[in-house]
Amino acid sequence: MHNAAFAAVGLDWVYLGCEVSPDHVGQALSGALRMGFCGVNLTVPHKIEALEWVDELDVSAREWGAVNTVVFEAEKGGDWLPVGQAEPGGGPLRSKGYNTDADALVRALKEDLRIEPRSARVLLLGAGGAARAAALRLADEGALELYLVNRTPSKAEDSAAEIAKRFPAVVVEVGYPNSDVEIILNATSLGLKPGDPFPIDINLYPLDRADGVYDMIYRPAQTPLLRAAREAGCQVSNGLGMLLYQGAAAWELWTGLAAPIEVMREALGREVYGGTQ
Ligand code: ATR
Repeated sequence: MHNAAFAAVGLDWVYLGCEVSPDHVGQALSGALRMGFCGVNLTVPHKIEALEWVDELDVSAREWGAVNTVVFEAEKGGDWLPVGQAEPGGGPLRSKGYNTDADALVRALKEDLRIEPRSARVLLLGAGGAARAAALRLADEGALELYLVNRTPSKAEDSAAEIAKRFPAVVVEVGYPNSDVEIILNATSLGLKPGDPFPIDINLYPLDRADGVYDMIYRPAQTPLLRAAREAGCQVSNGLGMLLYQGAAAWELWTGLAAPIEVMREALGREVYGGTQ
């Protein structure tokens, strides 16, 4: 999607994938900086490790506790400018870490699930890195009630304690709610592999108690959870929009241009689903 967007605006840039071992995140980042890259994205399992390895953290990375986008910057007359937007020069360079995932989730809930997370009650499945960032961002957005359910309850307890401390106005509990909710959000990895069980116990919490179900998984396009939710009459969306919006935000940070979002959406759908969804 990034390359399609570069082509659409006539930028002679390229986006490449590199596999990096978790032991070499710092070296890979300084190598990319020294080789004149404009920036990088990081994905599983590097997003938390990268907090330690960038020179600066944007407020988004500090707030949501993970880095998925790094912008390389050059110093010019006392200011730091993204390398991709600065005139070439021999001045100092640095790396700055951002998180574009958390805002992308909120945008995807609004645009793709068509549910406003502000004032919503949300049942959040999972308590890993992605789930924790989602919980914090939803609390910041003004979600009224958050219910955290995870295979390992102690991790959900930790997330709940952090939210209670940072966002005291939000009702946060571990376990299934007694009430209906606006949104069920799957942030576990259950549904990625064929034969995975549901990430939710539908005997304890039937899906028709939710208005909408969002699954961060985008491949397969329809997880068993989403299929069941659709059959239960819920609005549903997979995680492709979140992937798109975090990518578009990173692209804008590097280039300083408005991302051609429909070009990116079309390219992403083609790459992920081979043109069929
Ligand atoms: P990410 O960075 O994508 O959040 P993660 O931190 O490894 O990845 O988190 C994965 C999430 O999926 C966790 O909530 C995990 O539950 P645990 O905290 O109990 O490990 C959940 N998960 C993964 N496999 C699971 C399974 N087989 N059953 C239930 N939950 C599972």
